Amino acid sequence: MRFGHFDDAAREYVISTPRTPYPWINYLGTEEFFGLVSHTGGGYCFYRDARLRRLTRYRYNNVPTDVGGRYFYVHDDGDFWTPGWAPVKRELDFYECRVGLSYTKITGERKGLRAEVLYFVPLGTTAEVHRVTLKNTSKAPKSVKLFSFVEFCLWDASDDQNNYQRNLSIGEVEVDGGTIYHKTEYRERRNHYAVHSVNAKVAGFDTDRESFLGPWNGFGEPQAVAEGRSRNSVASGWSPIGSHQLAVDLAPGEERSFVFVLGYVENPVEEKWEGPGVVNKARARQLLARFQTTAQVDAALVALRDYWTEMLSKYTVKSGDERLDRMVNIWNPYQCMVTFNLSRSASYFETGIGRGMGFRDSNQDLLGFVHLVPSRARERILDIAATQKPDGSAYHQYQPLTKRGNNDIGSGFNDDPLWLISGTAAYIKESGDLSVLKETVPFDNDPKDAATLFEHLKRSFHHVLNNLGPHGLPLIGRADWNDCLNLNCFSETPGESFQTTGNRTGRTAESVFIAGLFVHVAPDYAALAEAMGLESEAKAARFHAVRMEETVLKHGWDGEWFLRAYDFFGKKVGSKECEDGQILIEPQGYCVMAGIGVKEGHAKKALDSVKARLDTAHGIVLNQPPYSAYHVELGEISSYPPGYKENAGIFCHNNPWVMIAETVLGRGERAFEYWKKIAPAYREEISEVHRLEPYVYAQMIAGKDAVRHGEAKNSWLTGTAAWNFVAISQHLLGVRPELLGLRVNPCLSAEIPSFTVTRRCRGAEYRIRVKNAATGQPARLRVDGKPIEGTLVPWAPAGATVTIDCEV
Ligand code: GLC
Ligand code: GLC
Repeated sequence: MRFGHFDDAAREYVISTPRTPYPWINYLGTEEFFGLVSHTGGGYCFYRDARLRRLTRYRYNNVPTDVGGRYFYVHDDGDFWTPGWAPVKRELDFYECRVGLSYTKITGERKGLRAEVLYFVPLGTTAEVHRVTLKNTSKAPKSVKLFSFVEFCLWDASDDQNNYQRNLSIGEVEVDGGTIYHKTEYRERRNHYAVHSVNAKVAGFDTDRESFLGPWNGFGEPQAVAEGRSRNSVASGWSPIGSHQLAVDLAPGEERSFVFVLGYVENPVEEKWEGPGVVNKARARQLLARFQTTAQVDAALVALRDYWTEMLSKYTVKSGDERLDRMVNIWNPYQCMVTFNLSRSASYFETGIGRGMGFRDSNQDLLGFVHLVPSRARERILDIAATQKPDGSAYHQYQPLTKRGNNDIGSGFNDDPLWLISGTAAYIKESGDLSVLKETVPFDNDPKDAATLFEHLKRSFHHVLNNLGPHGLPLIGRADWNDCLNLNCFSETPGESFQTTGNRTGRTAESVFIAGLFVHVAPDYAALAEAMGLESEAKAARFHAVRMEETVLKHGWDGEWFLRAYDFFGKKVGSKECEDGQILIEPQGYCVMAGIGVKEGHAKKALDSVKARLDTAHGIVLNQPPYSAYHVELGEISSYPPGYKENAGIFCHNNPWVMIAETVLGRGERAFEYWKKIAPAYREEISEVHRLEPYVYAQMIAGKDAVRHGEAKNSWLTGTAAWNFVAISQHLLGVRPELLGLRVNPCLSAEIPSFTVTRRCRGAEYRIRVKNAATGQPARLRVDGKPIEGTLVPWAPAGATVTIDCEV
């Protein structure tokens, strides 16, 4: 069952009923100012940091869910409603929500009045624009009242929901005609305020929540709206809001648009005031002047569209399978941009308070984003590297506003450092910019202790070698990629964090996954060392990779698949000897991606075991059998009920590792099957089961042991986005940048007999035509008509157009 449809020409998903199984959301903003907006207009916005600079309030865990947003209420002759249906929930004669690239457009119509609300953040702007268009579709004139509504957050989203004894007394606003200034704490240390404005003469306003809603009322029944009369309230403490009232007369067929702006303004400390206690509004006025007319708004929307058109032109496919095309050309890169910007901070499953930017997460997010705007990936790599510690370990997370490592979470996740090598290598392959390796970057943000980025990579690589366990495999630390495999935690206290508690500190628990990751990044690391002229380091790296591979084959092989780990006591994890959790997905994917056991036949066995034991109708589960009881020696993985999250859930992040691994063995058929099971566009038809947005991946789909098998959770902010893009675009469609050229080596199911890919990279354009007989063998290429040896097309000079014919 569907709740809408894709409109590929417009690059939109069109939701056709407000009664979706869950709020389906979108993101506004591309650089610094971001908003989340649901298909009913719910959500919130913030400047850079969802925790520290939140403009509007949102209540997680609310009943009903998704209450609070930027709402527009229409009062039409005693009847009042909201175009997004909620929160008033008056029946609409027409409803539609168009989810676009960094904008959302919601249209509702009732009793001859149509209201359309367009939400977006213009490029280079620290504000949302809300354009509201009212149209009289009836045969009689109408006198309508339009009310805007936002509820301000007192900036620090965590404090805002904790510290009522203070916060209910500090709210302050200024009202200046149609412009409302939210200035709580501006009187003291803050030098920023929020502005909420409209480009028309207002008939009234409200800035005090209770005055607007009336006591005991919720957002679905504001008294001011019901009566068609604002209170002109000026907030003093309690809960400041921003609401404008416009009186709009419409002849039959007439349409009028209004532009609302909700923005963030920062003043230099010396320029905070324009009079005693009066905020300096100069910068706000400059901001508002840019969006006074609908023509200005139209131009900003065109600029945003062009920005996306340009970015998406870096990789396009035409395959004859519209679902594949829309994932690769539109939605997957779009989600990659969102995850790149927001890491795991703010979604409908992440409160924006708990987590900042993850060290491993951001490096992986980069893999799917780097081709869109390489220069931003470069900046990000330098930011991440600056949170690395001098011994090569890494802060697990950092706050986007301060860019400082988060001490509450600390470090000790022993896979973290290696991801910096993957991220940096991906950036250099895309851009050719080796100069980044020579950039000076501090350790732990301490300018006195700085070295080249290459030196950071070196410490990453050697951090693994300096931390090997009894079998010569890497020590796991608090956890590796699987945050929930906590082999030193031994927690028996309810509520204790599995990630930051280490009740035992032995150096015994080892990870086969980190070993696979190490072997996988080693060739890239060695090549970068060579590029720096460090021959002996490159040689050493290759030597250590070979040794690690031998170690995995000796101590990390269980007979039919790769072991997952050794626990604190040296007992096997993920082995046929175990009762539960006999096989785990991560090392099967990563070891084969790294090429381990390919010639020995182990790789094939491991992947066949994945197929036999982990595959389901909805994707590949993380482990089998699920842990049926809590194991103190394994940690959080065994805390989840069977079938959910890391305990035998379909963790979509690592399904693509298995897809890529299948292509290493030339088995494109199976790789494609796996991909279609989790790719959202292919799951659109079962939206009533999947329940989340059919245009973006979710982190998790409940596994076969779960009560609700097939149901997704945690959409949007997940490494799933980047890894699936890498899998489908670089390994199945088979077009990927390498240091010395563009690799063209598809490995795809025969279902797609031919396709074309256009790839723009390093200033040149590559037009690739593929005939796919799915032989499983390396491709045969002709470049500009001439056959070449192998599958690597040397880089062409900027400005060139290269035609590649490929048979496989
Ligand atoms: C979450 C985390 C990620 C981790 C994964 C597996 O998605 O963001 O860092 O690797 O879970 O536990
Ligand atoms: C929980 C989740 C895991 C996530 C971690 C982050 O353990 O299961 O997916 O990575 O929290 O702290």
